[in-house]
Amino acid sequence: MRDGRPPRLSEIPAFAAYMNTGWGTPDRTPRVVPGAAEAAAAHRARLAEALTGRRAVLAAGQAPIRSNDMAYDFRAGSDFVWLTGCQIENAVVVLEGAEATLYVPPPAGPGDPAFFTDSRYGELWVGAAPGLDDWAKALGVRVRPLAELSTDVTEDQEAARVLAELRMYKDDWELGQLREAVDRTVEGFAAVVREIPAAVDGRGERWLQGTFDRYARAYGNGPGYPSIVGSGPHAPTLHWVRCDGPVTPGELLLLDLGVEAESCYTADVTRTFPVSGRFTPAQRQVHDLVERAHRAALAAVAPGRRFSDFHHAAMEVVAHGLADWGLLPVSVDEALSDAGQHHRRYLVCGVGHHLGLDVHDCGRASQESYQDAVMAPGMALTVEPGLYFHPHDLTVPPELRGIGVRIEDDLVVTEQGADVLSAALPLDADGLEKWMAAG
Ligand code: GLY
Ligand code: MN
Repeated sequence: MRDGRPPRLSEIPAFAAYMNTGWGTPDRTPRVVPGAAEAAAAHRARLAEALTGRRAVLAAGQAPIRSNDMAYDFRAGSDFVWLTGCQIENAVVVLEGAEATLYVPPPAGPGDPAFFTDSRYGELWVGAAPGLDDWAKALGVRVRPLAELSTDVTEDQEAARVLAELRMYKDDWELGQLREAVDRTVEGFAAVVREIPAAVDGRGERWLQGTFDRYARAYGNGPGYPSIVGSGPHAPTLHWVRCDGPVTPGELLLLDLGVEAESCYTADVTRTFPVSGRFTPAQRQVHDLVERAHRAALAAVAPGRRFSDFHHAAMEVVAHGLADWGLLPVSVDEALSDAGQHHRRYLVCGVGHHLGLDVHDCGRASQESYQDAVMAPGMALTVEPGLYFHPHDLTVPPELRGIGVRIEDDLVVTEQGADVLSAALPLDADGLEKWMAAG
């Protein structure tokens, strides 16, 4: 007894010695998505060329603590994943020219007191982990214990910007991963739509959120961002992730969902469904305008076009449509001018973004290489115009209040134009009704 308390297990020498012995070798095979190591090697070569031999240090990161000794789920940093093809908590990769050294925490196995005492990393608590040699073989890089990492290495912001700009151009393996994420997401939409009756029966938005999240967890790492399930008056709220409302017949149901594949590439797709299977005339009117804006935006995605072109194409359609409904307090030209933007009252968010390992991919790129950039083959992006009429927005007629519609597709720029990866989901109101009816 110390201080009146019984000793901890780690404080009992006989127990610690006993725990060090009598263990066979567990399976320590690393989980690496096929093709990830080879893709990462090519990414490292691109970074070395861009940094002309300067050193870069990227950390996988650590799950933040939720409370006491409980952590949130770990998700490795995207730059780290892009450069290594692996997802090891606390690991750090150091690149000096074409040379990569990966520093990883060795497994907390027998012989290490953490084996049975550390609930976050001890193998008896969290399962067997690959050793340094296992990682070296799986990834084709030099691997050293984390303790050897010099404490004077720091991540630098310049490397983060360069990485964001390199990551904008996806290679074939990455595009395959994105396709996988989008295909699983489309299946997830079908799973959610099948559960609408249960949601209407009283289980509400959260049942649909849980349905998708379970699907995403079973067929990938999980949702690539908090799932948005907005029914009725919640549909106009851009990021309705509370998902605590009812799902009511006659209302709309906005679903903004993405599966993150095991490689960490994520989809980001939105459709807006009529809960009862048929759009009301007012809902259809709004959906039709968003669809027209969406089609105009899709047509503006092609190599040689500016990234901002599809945004302007969608806004032009939206501004004219709102003017036709008498909802603009100024002329269309004035609204579309930099000094106006009145139509944006109903659409304050952007109309799309790069997509990849992060849902809002490449966010640290410079303005010139993001908004002002000319699109080129290999870029992956979303197009997502919408109209959001809040229930308490007194500028819109009562029949439009509480209607929110977004249509979001995932695209890849090709040599000829663009591929819509999420084209299996219908765009138009009739198509959505038929898709729902077909189950
Ligand atoms: N779908 C989430 C977003 O793009 O913000
Ligand atoms: Mn999006």
